[in-house]
This record gives sequence, structure tokens and C-alpha cells, in this order.
Amino acid sequence: MNLMNVDYTTKIPNNVDLAQDRQVLKALESWHPGYLDWWNDMGPEGFQESLVYLRTAVSVDPKGWAKFDYVRMPEYRWGVLLAPEEEGRLVNFGQHKGEKAWQEVPGEYRAMLRRLVVIQGDTEPASVEQQRHLGKTAPSLYDMRNLFQVNVEEGRHLWAMVYLLQKYFGRDGREEADDLLRRRSGDADAPRMLGAFNEATPDWLSFFMFTFFTDRDGKMQLESLAQSGFDPLSRTCRFMLTEEAHHMFVGETGVARVMRRTCEAMKQAGIEDPNDIARIRALGVIDLPTMQKKINLHYSLSLDLFGSEVSTNAANFYNAGLKGRFQETRLRDDHQLTNDTYAVLKFGGGAIKLVDEPALTALNMRLRDDYTNDCSKGIERWNKIVKALGVDFQFELPHTAFHRQIGEFRNVQATPKGVIVSEAEWAKLRDDYLPSTADGDFIASLMQSVSEPGEFAGWIAPPKVGIDNKPGDFEYVKIAA
Ligand SMILES: [Fe+2]
Ligand SMILES: [Fe+2]
Repeated sequence: MNLMNVDYTTKIPNNVDLAQDRQVLKALESWHPGYLDWWNDMGPEGFQESLVYLRTAVSVDPKGWAKFDYVRMPEYRWGVLLAPEEEGRLVNFGQHKGEKAWQEVPGEYRAMLRRLVVIQGDTEPASVEQQRHLGKTAPSLYDMRNLFQVNVEEGRHLWAMVYLLQKYFGRDGREEADDLLRRRSGDADAPRMLGAFNEATPDWLSFFMFTFFTDRDGKMQLESLAQSGFDPLSRTCRFMLTEEAHHMFVGETGVARVMRRTCEAMKQAGIEDPNDIARIRALGVIDLPTMQKKINLHYSLSLDLFGSEVSTNAANFYNAGLKGRFQETRLRDDHQLTNDTYAVLKFGGGAIKLVDEPALTALNMRLRDDYTNDCSKGIERWNKIVKALGVDFQFELPHTAFHRQIGEFRNVQATPKGVIVSEAEWAKLRDDYLPSTADGDFIASLMQSVSEPGEFAGWIAPPKVGIDNKPGDFEYVKIAA
């Protein structure tokens, strides 16, 4: 078969020749009903019967892989798609550097690899759970469709990881696949594995921030797993990255549209001071300082996803050739890092300082730095919009030490500028830097559904172009009565 195109003749669309792989096909088919139960319980609430204009992958050719059509979400064809095999691909880093990439799981690394796949897999359904209530308050059909597109693709990413578990990890893999459907975001007894995926996504600004910041963590993790010497994992992650780009687009443009609308409303009302919060809110738009607080929250929660700055696990994953660095093959060094160091931000003796650590154990810190760079570029793009609209305000990423639960700074409180403060001071300052209950209530008061084609809630500007080049009044979701 042509492994570029996706086979839709089996119940589970795929480009991995499942028709010839009866055992795995059977395992996936028996997992499928549980997945659908999960989707119906935990997927977008109230819209399962609606027709949504969604893209579905029909190929893994980067030049044209998707087709758009109306679909009821439970009938979405979730499939298993891997980027094409690269002939002669090697393990590109770690102690096995130069060996042929593995097509099977190396026995000695089985437990480590399974853990990497499960942790990645667990984040995918979590975000669907976190976002399940948002359809009801969508600011437009365009936004509602984008939410559902992100949701079905996160569902597909779960399939991607479950395929790896079922094909390569036998019975333990099947048990892990079942557990991925058992845990629930925010559940007291069986929570999702990582902190940010147990937080609520209470409103649409949070959703946009989440897809900008937390899906971008996902991008960094997928980028480093795409470097893996275990070829099926690499190929899986490479295709997921194609889809992930849209999620971050939804986040970045979503936030940008909220900023644009606020700035335009301020100008129209003759308000020059971005901190004139009461008057700005009276216009029915979200003031920029509150948006900065949301940035502080989502960025700091996402930094925690990178784990401890210094980590022997990260070193082991790298040495084993399982998880590489961001753009590993483009970096110019020996790709083994045995004698290298990397500067790590640490806290000691009351001060924050950079300390050289062995590069191998500092890999989490390094990936987090790459992430911060990526985020800063987005912040710059947002600032350009605000500036062009004539408003004097600049968004900033908070300091790494701000509001952390994991790593070096978990036991201290710091301001967004990186000034360490006492617990008592922090208690007084907290609401200046993170969304307060009152901020949340105000945003919640704006969250009212707008579902006429071509119309948008007053707190967000329309997009510049439609999805799939559709006109402004296109009915992206045909809501079932
Ligand atoms: Fe994902
Ligand atoms: Fe995503």
C-alpha cells in the first residue's frame, strides 16, 4: 500500500497497514468502544449531534494532508498516522549514536520508553476534558469550530500513543491504554499525570492561553520525542506536530483578537490609560492588565511541565537515544554531551543565580529555555499589535521563579520580575499578578454564546481569514436543536 495515503477501509483509518496486522487491529478495535464512551462522557458537552466543519487527515504528505467536511464529532474518523519512514535513519544522539534507528523496542529500554509514551498520551485526553464545557459559551461559530477541531485532534493524539502501546508493549501496553481512559482531569482519585492538565479551563481566554502556552509545551515535548531513536515514536510525533501547529495558531490568534478588540474599544472611547480598568471593563472588553495576569498563570503552569531543571531521568532518556533535544540534528556538537556543561538557574543563599551543571542532567532546563524563546516571540508579535493600535502597554513573560510548583523555585515566592518575597508579602501581592476571583467573575460575565453565522461576541475581534478560506458568515457548526 501507499503509506503516504491513509487507508479508510478498516474501521480505524491508518497508514500503518493495519489490515495486515490483525492482532494490533483487533486490540485497537476492542479499545475503540471504551474510547467512544470516554468521548461521549468527557468530550464537548451539548454538541455531539451537531455538524462541525472539521479537517480530517487523508494523507501524511505535508503539502496536502487534510480534507474539510461536516462531521458529527462522535463519527470523526480517528486514525493512526505516522510520518513516512526515512530511509537509512539513524539514532542521532546518546550512547547509541550512529546505530540504525530501532524499529522494535530495545528490551533494556522498554520501561523507560513505555513511560515516555504514557506521559505524552495522558496529556491528550486531559485537555479535551478540561475544555468540555466551553462550547456553550463560544464567542462565535468560527471559534466553536476551532475548539472542536483541537478536541478531535487531541483525541487522535491519544490514538497515536495507544497504537504505540498496543503494537509495541504487549500486555502492559494494553493495560496502560485502558488506564488512559480511566484517569480524568482534576479527579481527586484518578487525576491526570501532570499538574497543568488538572487545572480548570474556565473561560475562552483561558482556552486561548492554554493552546498558546500549554500546547506549545506539547510541541517542545513532541519535537524532542520526534528525535527518538525508536523510529515508530519519531514518526508518530512528526505527524502530530503537523496538527499541533493549528492548535497554537488558535491560541495565538485568539489572544491577539481579544487584545485587538480591547485596544479598539479603548481608542473609540478615548481611554488612553490601559490601567483604567473599571472604565475599560465597562466597555465589555477585557483589560490588558488582566490579560497579563492570565499570561503569568498559564506560562508558569506550563514551565512546571518541563520537570526539575536538573534531572537524571532526562539524562538517561538522552543517553539511551529515546528523547533528544529540540532540533537535535541541527545542533553542532558531539550529540553525546559527556563533557559539556549548561547554565542552570538555581536558588541558593537567598539569591537566584546561574550555575553550570553537566549538560546531560540539565536537558530539562535546556528544553525549557527553548520553550521560553518560542513564547517570547509570540509575546513580541502580540506587543506589535497593541502598539500598532496606539495603546501604550507591553506584555511580558514573568520570571522563571514566579509561581512555580516544580523544580528549583517550588519553595519560594517571587514576583514576575524575579524578586523573592516572603509568604506574607506574597499573600498581599498575589492578586496583582494572578487572576483574582473578581477577575474570573468579570471574564465569566462576558462568556455568552454567540451562534449566528458571522457574528462575534463583543470582547473579541473577528479573524482576518476564515478556516479553509471560507467567507466571514460561513456556518462552521450546524448546531443540532
Ligand atoms: Fe496533542
Ligand atoms: Fe494540541
